[in-house]
Amino acid sequence: MASVESEAWERMEEALVRRNEEPIGTVAANPPDGDGPALNYDEVFMRDFAVSAVALLLRGEHSIVRSFLRTSATLQSKEQHFDCFHAARGMLPASFKLLEGQNGREQIVPDYGNRAIGRVTPMDSAFWWLYVLHAYTKASGDEHFAQTAPIQETIRLILQFVLTPGHELTPTLLVPDGAFMIDRRMGVYGHPLEIQTLFFLALRSAENLLTPGIDGNDELIRSVRLRQSQLVYHLRTFYWLDLPDLNRIYRFDVEEFGENAANRFNIYPSTIPQWLFEWLPREAGYFLGNLGPSRIDFRVFAQGNFLAVISGLAAAPEAGQITRLFHDRRDFLVGEMPLKLVYPALEKHDWFLLTGSDPKNSPWSYHNGGNWPFLLWIFTAACLRTGQDAGLHETVERAGERLAADGWPEYYDGRSGRLIGKEARLYQTWSIAGYLAARQLLEQPEQVDLFTFSDTVQPTACEL
Ligand code: GLC
Repeated sequence: MASVESEAWERMEEALVRRNEEPIGTVAANPPDGDGPALNYDEVFMRDFAVSAVALLLRGEHSIVRSFLRTSATLQSKEQHFDCFHAARGMLPASFKLLEGQNGREQIVPDYGNRAIGRVTPMDSAFWWLYVLHAYTKASGDEHFAQTAPIQETIRLILQFVLTPGHELTPTLLVPDGAFMIDRRMGVYGHPLEIQTLFFLALRSAENLLTPGIDGNDELIRSVRLRQSQLVYHLRTFYWLDLPDLNRIYRFDVEEFGENAANRFNIYPSTIPQWLFEWLPREAGYFLGNLGPSRIDFRVFAQGNFLAVISGLAAAPEAGQITRLFHDRRDFLVGEMPLKLVYPALEKHDWFLLTGSDPKNSPWSYHNGGNWPFLLWIFTAACLRTGQDAGLHETVERAGERLAADGWPEYYDGRSGRLIGKEARLYQTWSIAGYLAARQLLEQPEQVDLFTFSDTVQPTACEL
């Protein structure tokens, strides 16, 4: 019988999308016939491919990643429109599909949210693209590709789009619900952690990719650096939660006016959920899920927290506290099949109101408290970064065996992730790639440097 790893590589091979013979990406899922409607799972998703890219780069397969980057750059929205119903200049699509066009010519059709269920906007795509470009450059040593004119233009348009001030006074980005991996209504509108940490990761990537001295790059590089340090300040100050912070919020005064308010966002202590009081370990902490006027989302979002670790947004002590949380609360956050996307699930009224009564996101299923194996790679990278890798090997190996036996499902359900997800696709590519990337990182832990950044960005206060 083939080993789990070699089976996984075969499946990756089957997932490749080829344009004129050249692989340019991987489909989201490649299930057996009759496994439900394809919907858009036969498309190349930018965020899903980022996980494939890590697995491929670790294996030395650089050219597929370069072809993906080149192809997706051509899909960027390049025109400035002053009417609506067009993707803003600089945006990249959530996914794209290769169609057989007229005269046998292939055509690429992007989806900016104009076809997606719920018409959700992919704010994360451009950020993942920058991160993949940075990882590709580092892993392959090919600095020329990033310096070519079309790639420099793509970088500049992304940065001009996300760095242009809106009506906000915070360095964080304001987005609608479902603008990232959680691409359904889940109460993740406003300033969700995952978008902010990805934004920071993308800025760190871009800083090293822009060629100085051309086309206004120098001014952009200055803005990129400033925004990085403002984000570090803002997130470390207002999103970080450990026991002393919880106690501070618990004793907050409210309705304070003026510059000296301690409770800047007017958080009412009665909104702290009961589960947190006994659950938060003394020696651990995490970045909160969201922050806005009179609103803290106290849920633990795994990907946003791991992104904070690998991007260097979390200072070393906080990064250690994050991975410690996953070790100390292993039963809740790692579970039988790693890893819990969001903890805890929205239930009853919260579920009804915040998900719009979404049966796919019923409590402890899918985005709402389901367990997602694609997170294995970023969990592994975060644990290696913080030196908390005890038991990691067993976790990844056991997950791989179970995934192979179950047909590589997209997600698992239940409080501890025991059941194959209610509507999980099989042969889901990022479940396969997440395992392969994790396994390779464990074999060559020094390679984690290709995908992580130091925590050396100094915070700059931007007082609210
Ligand atoms: C689902 C997930 C999304 C993913 C897509 C393709 O829509 O919510 O994050 O990119 O499937 O796998």
